[in-house]
Amino acid sequence: MTTISQNPAAPIVNEPAAAAPATPPEAAPKPERPYSPGLEGVIAAETAVGYVDGANGRLLYRGYPIGQLVEKGTYGRVAELLWTGEWRKSARLVPAPVPEPVMCALYELPSHTHPMDALRTAVSVWGAWRRPHWPPTVDQAREVTAFAPSALAAFHRLRNGLEPVKPNPKLSLAGGFLQQLTGKDPDPADARALDAYFIVGAEHGLNASTFTCRVIISTRSDLASAICGAIGALKGPLHGGAPAEVVSQLHEIGSPEHAEKWVREAIARGDRIMGFGHRVYRAYDPRAAALRKVAEGMADMAEWLDVAVKVEDVVLRVFGELKPDRVIKTNVEYYAAAVLQGVGLPPDLFPPTFALARMAGWGAHAIEQASADKLIRPDARYVGPAEMDVPALGR
Ligand code: SDX
Repeated sequence: MTTISQNPAAPIVNEPAAAAPATPPEAAPKPERPYSPGLEGVIAAETAVGYVDGANGRLLYRGYPIGQLVEKGTYGRVAELLWTGEWRKSARLVPAPVPEPVMCALYELPSHTHPMDALRTAVSVWGAWRRPHWPPTVDQAREVTAFAPSALAAFHRLRNGLEPVKPNPKLSLAGGFLQQLTGKDPDPADARALDAYFIVGAEHGLNASTFTCRVIISTRSDLASAICGAIGALKGPLHGGAPAEVVSQLHEIGSPEHAEKWVREAIARGDRIMGFGHRVYRAYDPRAAALRKVAEGMADMAEWLDVAVKVEDVVLRVFGELKPDRVIKTNVEYYAAAVLQGVGLPPDLFPPTFALARMAGWGAHAIEQASADKLIRPDARYVGPAEMDVPALGR
């Protein structure tokens, strides 16, 4: 034990630690608290926003099944449902103009900027300009969700040497995003397909980016900081970065005949097959099923889908054979890639488009976390060196 005298000038004396008091017999050592790598299986929050039933492949937003929300809803209504808990048929979410300071920042970004970094920058500048207070509100969530697609579209045009296009408030958020990317009103079928994608991507319980958002809000920090953190988490290929890799993966495989060899070699290398596996789902991801249906209704996707479905069958069969103890099924990203490619987005815009959709869930969880108002601070088991003295000077 080290004694630090009250007199700061006095030398610090290392006295032998007093013998620890003998543990009375009745006080048995406390059982080690379980450590779960990656917090797998740990309940870290209570939420009414979304329910992910991993065992049965079900997903509910405020109690409503995802399949019905895709069929009967719009992203505007679903976002409102997530933020307020109410289903309002009249709810609309239209693309908002990019705030001036955000547009100035977008003009300054180099054209090689990663689109997720561009989106994160846009939200960060919005935060500096708007200065959203804590606790986060539905109005704040609505504002950032409504301008973010316009900001991403503006960045995409600027990096291609084109001027940004003003939003058309008569269009939906998804349709308005497509219009601002191309400068033309979108094919209604494409707008509807992307709206369905936005609904499917809006919310998914305590995934890594939403958990990041909740941790930041739990310190009583602001919504802009929380969404910037969430975008950073979503950027990773194990999370929202996957759909872009699905496209390159299928391109590399080429044809279904090559799938078996390609998949076996990839798994043997320890590579991750993008679009498959999930921390929670031990059944087919209901979102993949919903988006496969959307993709099947899209023009010019038949050939790509034909290859994708055949490759999917091979991957699932090989996983069943090589990883029998781990149920690895198709996840949302596999057919998200089909829809996003089908509406004409380049693969590097897939992750930030996922972020545009997830803005609704991040906002809802931020509001819920603020009402819980409990700092999120888990513990860690120390496995480093035991206490020791710093070597004497001169060594
Ligand atoms: C999303 O959490 C969410 O809700 C996320 C999300 C959302 O909406 O927010 O659903 C969105 O992130 C979907 C997932 C997108 N990512 C990918 O498609 C990337 C590929 N998938 C894997 O990286 C993986 O499945 C994870 C990361 C998604 C989940 O992995 P886990 O639960 O941490 O499991 P693990 O990595 O520990 O793998 C367990 C075993 C391992 O085998 P062993 O090394 O123990 O022998 O399963 C294997 C893994 O090798 N495995 C895979 C695999 N997924 C799991 N092996 C090859 N390819 C895969 N895709």
